[in-house]
Amino acid sequence: MKTRRALISVLITLASLPSCVLSQACRPPSIVSEGRKVVFFTRDEGIRIPCVATGDRSLTYLWTKNGNPIDTSDFSNGGINIETGTGTIVIDSPHPSDAGYYQCHVTNQCGTALSVVSHVIHAFIHPFPPVSQPTVVEAAVGSSVVLTCTPPRSVPEPSMIWLLIGDDSSSYYHQLVTLDDRVTMDYFGNLYITNVHQDDSYGVESYACGATNHFTRSAVLGDDKRLVVRDNGSNTVSPTALLWSSPSDILALKGQEAKMKCIFAGNPLPSTSWERIDSQLDASRTFVDHNELVISDVQSSDSGVYRCSGLSSLDHHAVRRSFNLVVQSAPEWQSEPADITATSAGSAQFECSAVGIPEPTVQWFINGQPYQNLPDDPNRTLDGNILHFSSLDLSDSQVIQCNASNIHGYVWANAVLFVQG
Ligand SMILES: *[C@@H]1O[C@H](CO)[C@@H](O)[C@H](O)[C@H]1NC(C)=O
Ligand SMILES: *[C@@H]1O[C@H](CO)[C@@H](O)[C@H](O)[C@H]1NC(C)=O
Ligand SMILES: *[C@@H]1O[C@H](CO)[C@@H](O)[C@H](O)[C@H]1NC(C)=O
Repeated sequence: MKTRRALISVLITLASLPSCVLSQACRPPSIVSEGRKVVFFTRDEGIRIPCVATGDRSLTYLWTKNGNPIDTSDFSNGGINIETGTGTIVIDSPHPSDAGYYQCHVTNQCGTALSVVSHVIHAFIHPFPPVSQPTVVEAAVGSSVVLTCTPPRSVPEPSMIWLLIGDDSSSYYHQLVTLDDRVTMDYFGNLYITNVHQDDSYGVESYACGATNHFTRSAVLGDDKRLVVRDNGSNTVSPTALLWSSPSDILALKGQEAKMKCIFAGNPLPSTSWERIDSQLDASRTFVDHNELVISDVQSSDSGVYRCSGLSSLDHHAVRRSFNLVVQSAPEWQSEPADITATSAGSAQFECSAVGIPEPTVQWFINGQPYQNLPDDPNRTLDGNILHFSSLDLSDSQVIQCNASNIHGYVWANAVLFVQG
């Protein structure tokens, strides 16, 4: 009796299922939500990397870290949990050793989809080393002086500022040093005061550099530097000299920002100008910000030679420095492989090509297996950037992956081949 009722229920279920299941078609997994390529974490803020997929029948999620499977069912395994119903992983109390390369693999009966690789990075900033005595730096009016700063270890790189610290018995306060053409920072955080003025000593205040980590939202302060300005009344004249300049060979990526900077000293104060030697500056994307030339949304046409010149009213000729800007680019899709629904006995083709400098390398995978490791199949051919399937049958449903990469990054695609009855 029991058996018969069970059989009837199976028959009813079969009758109500869509025909594709009856004919054994199987839709491979498609990832609908995945992590970012770079994920920062702190010990206070947990890590969550999404992985959600759709596809026929039951989906199994598996994660790898640095290429090795993670056992997410084992709670002792660094406290990595997998959210029920999805493949999203959550690490509530991360440890620095949780840093690494994570990738989600989703499998069902007919295929495996792979997420992008999330580079999980521990973000932190160390304090500056303690210093018991403030450093005293002396400078004469009209000369130039460097207040040095050694930024503490920080991931990602900190942004640097200079502060004036006041400590008059009644209160302790600080204020940002105003940067301009005369008072400026190099790319390491050192402060240059060119053409020192008497009031650069700011009475009782001292200078201190600060480092801010934008991810951890924390800032640390360096030691005090007291600036003592000597004025013997002679206000010595000095010709323009280049105190510091950023590296002369600059590699910038398309779409990002390129910067170059020259710090000139001299009395009277030299003025700085910028030009492009081999062509015109593109005024719409170029601006000068205190001795620094900034090109935003860099394009390949920006590759070329640039020059700064420092000139004061007493100089006979300008002091110059040239920069060579080379623009490269991370891969971008030219033709991204797309999902295909095909019919039995039909054919399908996937194209994968990307542009970038240097030229991207294209790697194919099927269900996560590198193409070169797969057994030969006369019904599947790879011709340049095109993967071609012919004489399809229902068992050919699968997921094709393509990775186009160069030294600056990669683009990654999963394309589903779904063969219907
Ligand atoms: C694509 O290839 C690059 C270079 O080998 C690699 O760093 C990256 O992790 C690959 N991406 C995926 C999703 O496998
Ligand atoms: C004043 O200071 C400058 C710079 O230190 C020095 O070269 C010059 O000899 C000094 N002049 C006198 C009169 O002391
Ligand atoms: C290739 O297609 C033919 C025609 O459908 C089929 O008989 C053969 O089994 C296929 N070969 C492979 C390796 O799947």
